[in-house]
Amino acid sequence: MKTTVYHLSETTIEELLNQATQVISQGGLVVFPTETVYGIGANALDKNAAKKIYEVKGRPSDNPLIVHIANKKDVFTYTTVTPGKINLLIDTFWPGPLTLVLYKKSVIPDEITGGLKTVAIRFPDNEIAKGLIQQSNLPICAPSANISGRPSSTTFKHVYEDLDGKVDLIIDGGPSKVGLESTVLDLTTDIPTILRPGAITKTMLESVLKTQVIDDTVNRLNKEIPKAPGMKYKHYAPKGKVTLLKGSNQAILRYLRSEVMSSNKTGVIASSELTNKLELEHVFDLGSINQPETIAKNIFLALRTMDELNIETIYIEAFDSKELNAAIMNRLLKAANHHIIYLD
Ligand code: TXA
Ligand code: MG
Repeated sequence: MKTTVYHLSETTIEELLNQATQVISQGGLVVFPTETVYGIGANALDKNAAKKIYEVKGRPSDNPLIVHIANKKDVFTYTTVTPGKINLLIDTFWPGPLTLVLYKKSVIPDEITGGLKTVAIRFPDNEIAKGLIQQSNLPICAPSANISGRPSSTTFKHVYEDLDGKVDLIIDGGPSKVGLESTVLDLTTDIPTILRPGAITKTMLESVLKTQVIDDTVNRLNKEIPKAPGMKYKHYAPKGKVTLLKGSNQAILRYLRSEVMSSNKTGVIASSELTNKLELEHVFDLGSINQPETIAKNIFLALRTMDELNIETIYIEAFDSKELNAAIMNRLLKAANHHIIYLD
């Protein structure tokens, strides 16, 4: 398949939206930017269009897709939720990186939800994403724009690497602002439950809801049957073997200096506070430990950069699990297949 590419920097938003809208309406696939990561979009009401997404990604068919809307009230069109239950959340966090799992209405095909009775709904905060949904006048189902198992794509370059020749159109809207996928919050349980941590943190949700929110992801990481079907599959894996290093900066530096040979097959991903002091050849600086937003934005870029350098052994600094760091550590633990060395 020939993939058409539009760079926002070289065309007008009207021109690219006209083309992209046409593709979506005809059942095709469009890769588009969102504030979190890039998504592969299709008409969410067309099960055949959605099926193509699974094929292109190599994604298991029981792993449901998020349905993207661009108007808050559409959540009532596609789910059975009542305004009383969600108004506080959607008025505070939409548009933005919060996905809500709710009971679906039958207009949403079972093929999109992996046969579940629930559907995940999100209102992205990005002009191109919003324009595409509004202009096509359709909900758009979209998973992250990567081949299944690989790190999500946060730049055009990485989208293109994975998906050129496999989708109808790719829109380059520049690097993703957040860099980690949305928080997935299940509202079908008695107590709201985080199925995937993201930029909207447990503390932020609790302060708005004024009730307890459960973060299920820490406990579930090692268990057999995760609640979000997607969480059970291999994830975010670069080609090299990843090891997380947990300990003080001094301990991590000592370990890297004594145990790790500088070689063109070994790479380190860490905060500036550590990378400033490292003499190794391939070091990716995530940004200061005091700026978790910058670290979040750089995580997937760092993992993919290690692949580009053909790094076989990757050491990554482990962070604490406070606030946004919980989402960062969730992705890193998966990338490392839970391989972590504790240092002191
Ligand atoms: O930020 C994002 O959410 C990005 C952008 C493109 O919007 N999308 C994204 O989609 O990350 P995806 O397909 O890579 O991840 C969706 C996650 C999966 O873990 C999936 O299992 C879970 O959401 N999910 C989707 N529908 C669900 C449902 N009905 N119940 C429980 N989990 C669900
Ligand atoms: Mg994904």
